[in-house]
Amino acid sequence: MTQMNQVLVVEDEVVIRTALKRLLERHEYKVSEAGTVKESLEKYDMEDFDVIISDLRLPGAPGTDLIKASSTPVLIMTSYSSIRSAIDSMKMGAVDYIAKPFEHNEIIESVAKAIREHSKSSPKDKPAADEIELPVHGMIGSCAQMMELFRRIRKVALTSSTVLINGESGTGKELVVRAIHNLSNRFDKEMISVNCAAIPENLIESELFGHEKGAFTGATSTRTGLVEAAHGSTLFLDEIGELPLHAQARLLRVLQESEIRKVGSVQSTKVDVRLVAATHLNLKQLVADGEFREDLYYRINVMTLLIPPLRDRGNDILELADVILQRTCKRLKTAQLKYGSDAIRAITEYRWPGNVRELENAIERAVVLAETTEITEELLAIDGEVAKASPSRDATELPPSKPIEDLSLEDYFQRFVLEHQDAMNETQLAKKLGISRKCLWERRQRFGIPRKKKH
Ligand SMILES: Nc1ncnc2c1ncn2[C@@H]1O[C@H](COP(=O)(O)OP(=O)(O)OP(=O)(O)O)[C@@H](O)[C@H]1O
Ligand SMILES: [Mg+2]
Repeated sequence: MTQMNQVLVVEDEVVIRTALKRLLERHEYKVSEAGTVKESLEKYDMEDFDVIISDLRLPGAPGTDLIKASSTPVLIMTSYSSIRSAIDSMKMGAVDYIAKPFEHNEIIESVAKAIREHSKSSPKDKPAADEIELPVHGMIGSCAQMMELFRRIRKVALTSSTVLINGESGTGKELVVRAIHNLSNRFDKEMISVNCAAIPENLIESELFGHEKGAFTGATSTRTGLVEAAHGSTLFLDEIGELPLHAQARLLRVLQESEIRKVGSVQSTKVDVRLVAATHLNLKQLVADGEFREDLYYRINVMTLLIPPLRDRGNDILELADVILQRTCKRLKTAQLKYGSDAIRAITEYRWPGNVRELENAIERAVVLAETTEITEELLAIDGEVAKASPSRDATELPPSKPIEDLSLEDYFQRFVLEHQDAMNETQLAKKLGISRKCLWERRQRFGIPRKKKH
């Protein structure tokens, strides 16, 4: 006989508590009861339960106080079916929330799911770390902040709510988006990714929403937009802060009505799209500056995942540096190199404004330039701020195979961007450099020159 799962119900309204107890008992759960957080903690050991169902509003302390009390998963019920308090509970670590009045099926499903998922990832069973903690294969990190991020990724992936991912350049926003898509029930349909910064302003609406034949000069045939292409799947809008205002208005309508209307069309089509947006900018500030619509901001700010900058991740930096070094040596087919102690010190002390991407670039550069099996601080060329802004590089550092022109062009590009980015926007910078905005964006990525945060 299998052992009965134990549930603790914490609810101050006796009628609801009793109803819940009966319902759970009918489904073969062993149920204990309490009326407050205090009573729960005094009467029982939280670790004895497989799941705790608690009302949010309780006399004394809120039900969310039970989340931190043990490793047992906590389901929060809220009579105020306000999405706000439900989301807040989830942010605090509740595994799920139930809005009252609840459906019996819904409760039973949530309980079963919490037990199922928790027993899979219970620290008691000690499963392989890469199975439970990593949301995607290859996303490295074990500091508290990243663990929390992984947990939230797994959590939001199961819902269809809009997610906003915020983090500095190169922190791994795209990896997080992929994780969310791959862990969602939409995983079998390809995710559609759009980089709002890389599409010229005058084309973005028809790219996203499609257009009718003859909607404008050059619209020689009807075209399906990327939003529609993401039907049944995930739409990833990267650099959403760069979306022009007129496109923002259209996007808002899509989100509000789950309908899309092509440019130049009078008819709309229903779409089922899960939006995940990313930005390195402070959207709230953009709203204050009138560059981002406030109503759209609130629409997409339902669940925000903040990716910490690399410099705040403690030992993750060295873990990443090791894995990336191994990977890079393999890819470039060199011998397996290792870091000298000065390099390790430099890596831990440097601020990494371009985050993981900059780390990858620094390592690749070092691997290419290395002449012994040891990576030195000098090879990493991350000696403080000067290393990035310096216009010319010592010629002796050049790899023999690389033409000098290449590097000087890179230097020119870097210097120009660093000197002018405060005074010019991306369009102006690109124009001055004689390249497209997309190209400018790609080069920033390649050279690890993140865009400065506004303000
Ligand atoms: N935690 C991580 N573990 C391993 N690799 C990572 C991690 N985070 C980021 N990377 C790597 O760093 C690079 C940059 O990541 P990504 O493109 O996801 O960053 P981003 O935040 O989208 O950057 P940007 O703002 O510049 O678009 C990628 O090559 C990615 O694989
Ligand atoms: Mg990105």
